[in-house]
Amino acid sequence: MTLHQLLVYIFVLQLSCLLISAKVFKLGQEASVVYKWTKLDFNWTHTDVKQDSIRNGTFIVANNVITGIKVYSRRIFVTVPRWRPGVPSTLNEVMNTSDDRAILNPFPTWGMQKIGDCDAFQYVQSMEIDPNTGYMWIIDTGSARGGTTQCNAKIVIYDLKSDYIVRNHSFPENIVSKGTNFLNDIVIDYVNGKPRFAYISDTGQVPKIVVYDYEIDESYFFNHKSMYPENGYMTNNSSKNDEQRNFTTPIDGIAMSPDFQYVYYCALADRNLYRIPTEVLRGRGNFSQSYQHDERVRRQTEWFSVRKDCM
Ligand SMILES: *[C@@H]1O[C@H](CO)[C@@H](O)[C@H](O)[C@H]1NC(C)=O
Ligand SMILES: *[C@@H]1O[C@H](CO)[C@@H](O)[C@H](O)[C@H]1NC(C)=O
Ligand SMILES: *[C@@H]1O[C@H](CO)[C@@H](O)[C@H](O)[C@H]1NC(C)=O
Ligand SMILES: *[C@@H]1O[C@H](CO)[C@@H](O)[C@H](O)[C@H]1NC(C)=O
Ligand SMILES: *[C@@H]1O[C@H](CO)[C@@H](O)[C@H](O)[C@H]1NC(C)=O
Ligand SMILES: *[C@@H]1O[C@H](CO)[C@@H](O)[C@H](O)[C@H]1NC(C)=O
Repeated sequence: MTLHQLLVYIFVLQLSCLLISAKVFKLGQEASVVYKWTKLDFNWTHTDVKQDSIRNGTFIVANNVITGIKVYSRRIFVTVPRWRPGVPSTLNEVMNTSDDRAILNPFPTWGMQKIGDCDAFQYVQSMEIDPNTGYMWIIDTGSARGGTTQCNAKIVIYDLKSDYIVRNHSFPENIVSKGTNFLNDIVIDYVNGKPRFAYISDTGQVPKIVVYDYEIDESYFFNHKSMYPENGYMTNNSSKNDEQRNFTTPIDGIAMSPDFQYVYYCALADRNLYRIPTEVLRGRGNFSQSYQHDERVRRQTEWFSVRKDCM
């Protein structure tokens, strides 16, 4: 399986999760349209720039799709993964134009979206916003598909209240590998009432939970057999019997318990759900001795039918 196939698949899966949540949402309350569009467009500095970008292939409309979405106050931020070329901006805020067209405003600026500039974002799959501080924790894999530069992966923390970068941590290559990582999902952990740790899933060549400690500005990681696909299981995105479309994707989405005691995780190609006490992640403890696999959280086959429905 190539990384590209993997990324396509991750996108499809995330989309299906959006569909599932939309269904659930409808049961409880009436949904209303906040923004809508059929093709993504950006807030270009000039229409000529847009036309030039389409002509020279730096904007390929069909390759621009949304995966990550986070809300802060009334502001809505979305990521557009660079899993194919022609994605001009990977992190954006959704805005309506004066004639009520939804457009993506590159966030925080166009300058921060420059492919090949390692100070800028290369490929943002996810971010998390802490509602109390208004800090947006943004993870960047460091390499855009279709780009030639490979940068170190990084985490950038942006203060939405005062509009400035409060932290920028470049992951050392021995923590998050350059070019072959896939920093995928992020959750934030509170200690003494303040956000301190970020836990990040790396769906890349070596599956990991990467930890970033904001207080001391250091990162480290855990790699464990529970983060790998279950032997003999695959995720099947094909409607036909087609071996090519079976993926053995490792750890992917992660979740924090409301009391900040546990991080839940699972490989996509696995029927089990695992959890690890945050105490172990915070204190660089013994992962193998502390991870838990609870039969009660063993994922049911219904999940797979739901997934198939949505695909
Ligand atoms: C399954 O993945 C393959 C390979 O990435 C992709 O070409 C295909 O469109 C996907 N199929 C569906 C039904 O999503
Ligand atoms: C493509 O066009 C845009 C807009 O004029 C320009 O900023 C960019 O540098 C061009 N890229 C290439 C590879 O020619
Ligand atoms: C588009 O970008 C311009 C220049 O940064 C900004 O002034 C304007 O408010 C943006 N438009 C929208 C709808 O966000
Ligand atoms: C954006 O425009 C749509 C109309 O296309 C409207 O329904 C929606 O309320 C607007 N959203 C906001 C946040 O103003
Ligand atoms: C991150 O820090 C490096 C080193 O201090 C600096 O060169 C770079 O401009 C910073 N990047 C951002 C996006 O703030
Ligand atoms: C993938 O799913 C399709 C549709 O349910 C099924 O026909 C096919 O046999 C499956 N492929 C494999 C290799 O399990």
